[in-house]
Amino acid sequence: MVAITNYSDALHRQAVIELWNAVFGYETAHNTPGLAIDKKLAVADGLFFVALTDNEVVGTVLAGYDGHRGWLYAVAVHPSHRRKGVGVQLVRHAEHALTLQGCMKINLQIVSINASVQAFYESVGYSTEPRISMGKKIDSNITG
Ligand SMILES: CC(C)(COP(=O)(O)OP(=O)(O)OC[C@H]1O[C@@H](n2cnc3c(N)ncnc32)[C@H](O)[C@@H]1OP(=O)(O)O)[C@@H](O)C(=O)NCCC(=O)NCCS
Repeated sequence: MVAITNYSDALHRQAVIELWNAVFGYETAHNTPGLAIDKKLAVADGLFFVALTDNEVVGTVLAGYDGHRGWLYAVAVHPSHRRKGVGVQLVRHAEHALTLQGCMKINLQIVSINASVQAFYESVGYSTEPRISMGKKIDSNITG
């Protein structure tokens, strides 16, 4: 039985850091789990969720809404809990929260080599759009 609930820093921080390190294997400072968590909590938008099984963190999703688009980030399920519908539950939960805030369209990015993740998102109704994704780091804010 999986429950999706709001992230609690007191209860879930260490488990989320371990999950993200295991699943994403970060190489870039701006994605360091502890820093990413702190930055998300500072926004206090209530769009950070964890999936729990027997009170253990088995998955995460971050969402964001800027008044124009909703975004999904850090959709992750622990390898030992995959293909049981946890990922779908996380995405549906985040979509519902974004919908309640008035969001009209949800976007997400996946690294281009991740074909299985593309199949996952297609299974929950997302399609590939012809876009070129660009980004720029703000180095002065990348400190933990
Ligand atoms: C992508 C991810 C979140 C999916 O989580 P999950 O809990 O295993 O997904 P679900 O069980 O809800 O899968 C739902 C459907 O998605 C599709 N799907 C999921 N994983 C898939 C895979 N590896 N290959 C092909 N299709 C897949 C299937 O259609 C699946 O339904 P089915 O199991 O009945 O066939 C998980 O594999 C993961 O954490 N991957 C690494 C992290 C990552 O890359 N996240 C995305 C960042 S943008």
